[in-house]
Amino acid sequence: MTRLASATVCAVTDGTGLGDGTAQHHANAHLGFGIDIGGSGMKAAVVDLDSGELLSERQRISTPHPATPEAMADVVRRLVEHDGWTRPLGVAFPAVVDHGVVHSAANIDKSWVGVDADTVFSNACGLDVSMVNDADAAGVAEMRYGAGKGVRGVVIMLTFGTGIGSGLFTDGVLVPNTELGHLELDGHDAETVAAASVREREGIGWKEWASRVQHYLRHVEMLFSPDLFIVGGGASKAHAKWLPRIDIETEIVPAVMQNSAGIVGAALMARPTAT
Ligand code: BGC
Repeated sequence: MTRLASATVCAVTDGTGLGDGTAQHHANAHLGFGIDIGGSGMKAAVVDLDSGELLSERQRISTPHPATPEAMADVVRRLVEHDGWTRPLGVAFPAVVDHGVVHSAANIDKSWVGVDADTVFSNACGLDVSMVNDADAAGVAEMRYGAGKGVRGVVIMLTFGTGIGSGLFTDGVLVPNTELGHLELDGHDAETVAAASVREREGIGWKEWASRVQHYLRHVEMLFSPDLFIVGGGASKAHAKWLPRIDIETEIVPAVMQNSAGIVGAALMARPTAT
């Protein structure tokens, strides 16, 4: 009886990529592991790279405060250990990340600037870690499995959350670290006017916020002549409240992967570190 029960549990956990059955499944090249780091939470899961689906329950640990490299590295280690992951992984991060080194800190602890995050996180969990900008990661996931699947030409992913993130694609190829959220708009950094957090902070309604977003999108449209905008981030969940108000030339669609896009995109970009 006990044996049967544990065999059943084992079959279930093998299927999800969790628990004792994981070692065998984690050797499967079609699986990846991604962590999405945000201002309030650090989220992780095992990902089926064929379908873009999460195979383990999404884990979430609150982002430590202050969110220093050391404190966050410890959370990365815990997330990896919880799922028993043993191969390279990807981490989506809300900053410019060039070859693993963090170069900006608009909405993160300033102590990150100049830090080789690939190395800090790799040392913490003993695995190869590939860092990627969070909006680039979300865009990569949407282009592979979601709203941008099969779309050629210029596609711009924009995430409206604490800040505004961007991922620029041409014929499906990512141009990393575009940072279009920091374009100057009427003398202001655009994300200080049109990020989703600004709507909440200033207590403005959807109509007023949508008109700010439209003004911003028209500016981006004028500069890049995109074929498609994909809008993600926290505000995309409520897209019915504001997207119909947006009047621009370019086709614009909500992201379809919602809060798993960062995890999935990060998992897709994981690769062994060349030695
Ligand atoms: C950062 C970007 C990031 C975006 C969304 C901006 O403030 O500069 O790197 O992608 O926020 O998190």
